[in-house]
Amino acid sequence: MITAQPQSFFQQKNIALRLILVFVLGFTVNREHLCSNQPFVTPTASLPSVPSVIHSSLAKMSFDGNLSFENFEHAARDFGNRYHIMPYAVLYPKSVSDISSIIKCIFQMGLTSDLTVAARGRGHSLQGQAQAYRGVVIIMESLQVPKMSFHNGEVPYVDVSAGELWISILHESLKHGLAPKSWTDYLHLTVGGTLSNAGISGQAFRHGPQINNVYELKVVTGSGQELTCSEDQNTELFHAVLGGLGQFGIITQARIALEAAPKKVKWIRALYSDFSAFTKDQEHLISSENTFDYIEGFVIINRTGLLNYWRSSFKPKDPVQANQFSSEGRILFCLEVAKYFNPEVPDNIDQVRVF
Ligand SMILES: Cc1cc2nc3c(=O)[nH]c(=O)nc-3n(C[C@H](O)[C@H](O)[C@H](O)COP(=O)(O)OP(=O)(O)OC[C@H]3O[C@@H](n4cnc5c(N)ncnc54)[C@H](O)[C@@H]3O)c2cc1C
Ligand SMILES: *[C@@H]1O[C@H](CO)[C@@H](O)[C@H](O)[C@H]1NC(C)=O
Ligand SMILES: *[C@@H]1O[C@H](CO)[C@@H](O)[C@H](O)[C@H]1NC(C)=O
Repeated sequence: MITAQPQSFFQQKNIALRLILVFVLGFTVNREHLCSNQPFVTPTASLPSVPSVIHSSLAKMSFDGNLSFENFEHAARDFGNRYHIMPYAVLYPKSVSDISSIIKCIFQMGLTSDLTVAARGRGHSLQGQAQAYRGVVIIMESLQVPKMSFHNGEVPYVDVSAGELWISILHESLKHGLAPKSWTDYLHLTVGGTLSNAGISGQAFRHGPQINNVYELKVVTGSGQELTCSEDQNTELFHAVLGGLGQFGIITQARIALEAAPKKVKWIRALYSDFSAFTKDQEHLISSENTFDYIEGFVIINRTGLLNYWRSSFKPKDPVQANQFSSEGRILFCLEVAKYFNPEVPDNIDQVRVF
């Protein structure tokens, strides 16, 4: 599976991140007018050092949620667990205007504030992408507006908050007989987090990754503006933000493409020890006309025990499962496919012929 992007890509994006933040924050400073979404409090005549100016102006702001200057160890960690970058503050937004006002404030502080901003979804990044060095981390899961809103009809979709988890979207959309067209394998990730990357799973060969299955976004830009964007409206922003690793604005809401949820699926896994046989079959399946609805390839490292427990699908007690499969090698390949079907329609699921 190709969900892990090569390191150099992330490194480049990291550099891009710094450059863009420098660009975004590179605005002339008028420190006396920092961040006033609150009645303006006259600053002392001699300006204190930058951090305390920043602190006092941020601390003065009021939010529907809250801005915290302490206890943010969690915002300095991610799934990779290698980068621990301490932020300066953590925002728990309860409204979109919480996000736009803090970004406006930081934008107005300008370059010399050195403040960076990062949205944090589930923090499942590997290299600190959702962290902000001495900056402000925005906890997107705290933004629970709007509530999910489903639209049935010819082109069904759901409007969701960017902090929503895909697993919740699955549960809610099934109640309407619907499901997103394109997924990730692992569903405890946020909409904003995967749409800032790509969102890849076994439907991508047919529908494209998740970023190809979005009709509209609401975004807070680097200057704090709230904009709606789509193929037809603010198009450049739309395409920049999708897959943009959080560098072109903060997604606050997304309109996700849905389809009728399959009633049942037939799910098959095949193990390969030979890489060419594996890729040949996978390419064949992807390019066949009457093929599966889900196709994904995995690389599996055959370490003691791992194979048996791997995604719990090869059960340790089942003798015909993976431990019976003989391979000299340490690396195995798995082709996972699924065919959707409706058990009420007499269309023989076992007769899909692709070879
Ligand atoms: C166990 C595991 C399984 C995974 N499985 C898959 C998979 O099957 N398919 C796949 O494609 N990927 C997969 N991934 C990768 C995953 O999609 C990305 O790491 C994704 O960024 C995680 O989402 P998150 O909500 O944790 O985002 P975070 O890690 O919190 O954020 C990721 C990036 O997006 C930015 N960001 C977050 N929210 C927003 C927002 N609202 N607006 C703008 N920018 C934002 C952050 O600043 C950061 O740069 C997996 C990762 C893990 C750890
Ligand atoms: C800030 O908001 C978060 C999320 O709603 C909450 O868990 C936390 O207790 C709040 N902190 C303060 C100081 O109000
Ligand atoms: C995994 O590797 C061991 C040797 O380390 C080998 O005996 C076993 O057959 C391998 N398993 C598979 C499924 O290839």
